[in-house]
Amino acid sequence: MSRSWRHVNRGFALLLGCLLAAPCTLAEEVADPFADADMDNATEINEVCAGCHGEYGQGGKDGEYPRLAGLPAAFIARQLELFRGRERENLAMVEHTDHRQMPDSDVRDISAFLAAIELPSRLPPVDETAADFNAYERLMATKRMVQIPRAEGDTIAGERLYAKECASCHGRDGLGRERDAVPMLAGQYTGYLHRQVEKYIDKRRVHDPSDPDAEELLAAFSAEELRDIFAYISILDD
Ligand code: HEC
Ligand code: HEC
Repeated sequence: MSRSWRHVNRGFALLLGCLLAAPCTLAEEVADPFADADMDNATEINEVCAGCHGEYGQGGKDGEYPRLAGLPAAFIARQLELFRGRERENLAMVEHTDHRQMPDSDVRDISAFLAAIELPSRLPPVDETAADFNAYERLMATKRMVQIPRAEGDTIAGERLYAKECASCHGRDGLGRERDAVPMLAGQYTGYLHRQVEKYIDKRRVHDPSDPDAEELLAAFSAEELRDIFAYISILDD
């Protein structure tokens, strides 16, 4: 494809984006705070994060360490700022997040880096007897895969509650909303999500800073209803 054509296509894509996602201005497009993130610096920082969150931000220990890959960059940056300001508790990360360890430019870099990682939830079928089968490549691909096991509960009841109470912000498919820094819930460890809901209800975390009723929303569910919602979320990546 010629250079000029690519240019025209990009212009068209931008225009289409603007039509679909109002309000949109070209100035906003230019002002993306993560656009000039330094990915080499981020790769270095990630060596520290990987000790707990895994090399690909895939998380670990069944959600003791959450998955970070694919979360909106602005959400990741906000959590790091909250940890740094001690507004969100996180003993494990305290020593990594003070201003000296993590200046604002590092927060930007590592947030953009982790947000851009895509993890498959399943592997394509392969023929292990084929001549071009590469066992090492297959093993590496397995390491990147995150597949949330089906959690206990009534997924039908959970789907109904999710669609009514969560989808407006977290998306119909649980994929979150990049633009508003709303995290995905699909593909995140069930135990981790559950713990966060407890923190919201106990007011140790703020659910949606722009919506003061969001905590009350979670507190209004019975334990059974929450279990059903998480059961439904756990099958969204199947
Ligand atoms: C010593 C282990 C450890 C290291 C190293 C670590 N983290 Fe964490 N991180 C945690 C734990 C534990 C949590 C979950 C805290 C909780 O349950 O609220 C967490 C949570 C987070 C969250 C919140 C995710 C969410 O969905 O709410 C972000 C973002 C994060 N870490 C980013 C990082 C980055 C970036 C680095 C590297 C600079 C890093 N962490 C290094 C242990 C660690
Ligand atoms: C009004 C919008 C809104 C609604 C409705 C909403 N959420 Fe959220 N949720 C958010 C935002 C924004 C965040 C990120 C908060 C932050 O930055 O710490 C969030 C974060 C979360 C997290 C933490 C995820 C993480 O990785 O740390 C969980 C769990 C969660 N929401 C569950 C739910 C469930 C379950 C429902 C439905 C019962 C729901 N939310 C409805 C806006 C919403």
